[in-house]
Amino acid sequence: MSKPKTVFVCRECGAVTPKWLGRCPTCRAWDSLEEEKPPQTPSGAQAKSPELISLVQALTTPEPRATSGLTELDRVLGGGLVQGMVVLVGGEPGIGKSTLMLQLAARLGRSGHKALYVSAEESVRQVGLRARRLGAEALEVMLMAETGLETIKQAVTRDNYTACIVDSIQTVRSSELAGGAGSVGQVRHCASELAALAKETGAAVFLVGHVTKEGSLAGPRLLEHLVDTVLYFESEPSMRLRLLRAVKNRFGATDEVGVFEMTDSGLSTVKNPSAMLLEHRPEGAPGSAVCAAVNGTRPLLVEIQALVSPSGLAMPRRQALGVDQGRLHMLTAVLSIHTGLDLSTSDVFINVAGGVKLTEPASDLAVACAMASSLRNRPLPPDLVCFGEVGLAGELRAVGRTEARLAEASRQGFGRALSAAQSQKKTQKIRLLQAKRLEDALEMVLD
Ligand code: TYD
Ligand code: MG
Repeated sequence: MSKPKTVFVCRECGAVTPKWLGRCPTCRAWDSLEEEKPPQTPSGAQAKSPELISLVQALTTPEPRATSGLTELDRVLGGGLVQGMVVLVGGEPGIGKSTLMLQLAARLGRSGHKALYVSAEESVRQVGLRARRLGAEALEVMLMAETGLETIKQAVTRDNYTACIVDSIQTVRSSELAGGAGSVGQVRHCASELAALAKETGAAVFLVGHVTKEGSLAGPRLLEHLVDTVLYFESEPSMRLRLLRAVKNRFGATDEVGVFEMTDSGLSTVKNPSAMLLEHRPEGAPGSAVCAAVNGTRPLLVEIQALVSPSGLAMPRRQALGVDQGRLHMLTAVLSIHTGLDLSTSDVFINVAGGVKLTEPASDLAVACAMASSLRNRPLPPDLVCFGEVGLAGELRAVGRTEARLAEASRQGFGRALSAAQSQKKTQKIRLLQAKRLEDALEMVLD
């Protein structure tokens, strides 16, 4: 039998070549071939006997979760930490990743768990000073300032940790590999080694990653498939509000949002995020609509602002922040064709206040209402929330979680809700305005 040979695999298209080449012969990508060594299993090695359980048994052994006590973080994780989970915490420098991780470690420590915080960026003293500022000193939290992967691995296996935090993955380096810390090869190698260690030891491993200016975690999307959960920490510049969003989660809902406020003593959870997000809403201003959205499992009221202004451009501008650009194009077309509101010579800007990102089509109706309100220069009723999907024929479509949306709107003191026509139990104090078509909906709220 011939000996298996080292091959080179293209990172982009997966093509295999026997030799290293500067450019992939299949997809023509530059510098994308990576060496892949044959697995080192001695010939004749016995596979271990498979362990099988029935689907029913799989459900009767629930995943034990450790709650951190940081309720917003637990919520985004899907109800707490799962043994052996690997979590990537991404965000721009200075947003508060290290602060959140240190608070997590301290909370775990105080509730009888063991946690390890590896700082590959700051000295032990710097981390200690921050912990004091946060009131987060905890005896059960072990601290290490180290950048060498091999040393970090030893530390992780030394004790039975509930959580190990590596801050950041871009500053960790393995001596087995050429290339400096932060290079694509190093980041991927270090992350996969730590992920394997998480599965082996049962510790939940948190990898902190800085997001580059383009908005991707250094090494484009390099780590996302390696980990179980990807959390992004986001905010609007100049705001104290911080949103922690799950963009991938094997153990919970995606698009779940945790809301924090950065204070002088660290991050504190926000009890009533809807109220905080609507705090600066200009009541009675044209172009402002409140959307009763659902992020992950939580209903959240957010303000959508639209500015429609005459354009001097042959191709008027369409800019969306917080909602999908493609959906904005679709909505402007539907408004023009089905409601007679001509947007063809107007620039349209949409912004979701507070830096929230809305991914569900349920935000369509609020975006359309905000645009129509701005174009007609008439405000929407101040006690109105909207939700519903808009179809290409100008029809309104019902969306899920109606009860939860109405309940949140009612709790925040809103008196009217505009949505698609659907049978609805009258359980809330809120007045329902329902329409089958977008033009009828607009007529109801913008006379
Ligand atoms: P940090 O957690 O270091 O951010 P990251 O790890 O994402 O780079 O947060 C740094 C910022 O947070 C910094 O500008 C100071 C501010 N901060 C507070 O406002 N309050 C605090 O209690 C702490 C620890 C930091
Ligand atoms: Mg940091």
